[in-house]
Amino acid sequence: MNSPQAFDPLAPAYDDTFTDTIIGRYLREQVQTRLARHFRAGDMVLELGCGTGEDAFWLAGRGVRVLATDVSEGMLAAARAKTAENPLVEVARLDLTTLPEIISGVGEGLRPSRYMDKQIFNGGFSNFGPLNCLGEWRTLAAWLAGRIQPGGIVGLGVMSPLCLWEPLWHSLHGDFKTATRRWRQTTFQPDAAAPPIAIHYPTIRRLTRDFAPHFQRVYVQPLGLFLPPSDVFPVIQSRPHLLNRLLVLEKRFGKYSKLALFADHYWIEFKKR
Ligand SMILES: C[S@@+](CC[C@H](N)C(=O)[O-])C[C@H]1O[C@@H](n2cnc3c(N)ncnc32)[C@H](O)[C@@H]1O
Repeated sequence: MNSPQAFDPLAPAYDDTFTDTIIGRYLREQVQTRLARHFRAGDMVLELGCGTGEDAFWLAGRGVRVLATDVSEGMLAAARAKTAENPLVEVARLDLTTLPEIISGVGEGLRPSRYMDKQIFNGGFSNFGPLNCLGEWRTLAAWLAGRIQPGGIVGLGVMSPLCLWEPLWHSLHGDFKTATRRWRQTTFQPDAAAPPIAIHYPTIRRLTRDFAPHFQRVYVQPLGLFLPPSDVFPVIQSRPHLLNRLLVLEKRFGKYSKLALFADHYWIEFKKR
């Protein structure tokens, strides 16, 4: 099982190396467009694996109440610092591998709400890969089913198993181990002192099957089809002409659901039955 603190070393630089990059911002905007479609001012939304709290902060700016959760204390500290001034966001620890009946430490900061009392939410989401840290998704789907109101949307940003960039880029650079890493369960080590994290790459079909007892799949979109995975951001962002061309292609083809499996991440939405 992954160590709860595995992502701690990434927390201090996460916004600099991902959130605030040109490519990171573009990809997040695509997700936020989807979040804005489903979540309105006054809604109560559950976020899983919130990282530094960027999406919770953005949603709260639109009047949405967010319970932002993560397992890493480093990420939770960054999320608390970012959202401290905003009474609509509450940050709490939640480990997706040991889902509790009641998420503890919740209910003090937010305005009272019938959703908070019972921990029932209008919807939920998880952006940029937290679900890749799980080895199966049926348990999470069943747990969410007890917490999302009927008709509510759960949106998930998941690292895809068939990302085209990775085999092409890393094969060209002679790194065949990295080129093929998504084709098997693999590990990721945030830094030399940190324990490795097991990463799994579920297909769209697998997630759809695991969520099917409680949720209907209603939407899929690629995220990062022509734009590269984050380890290649610096190389591409230092070439503005290439970056602009890739952005044009991404805008043109970035909504085709049939291409989603070939992107770095896919965005998938389920509706609670
Ligand atoms: C790549 S970051 C994405 C962060 C954020 N959602 C975003 O959009 O930038 C993945 C996050 O998943 C969290 N995570 C990994 N395993 C988890 C688990 N078992 N339970 C809860 N969160 C987890 C990590 O701590 C990390 O913050």
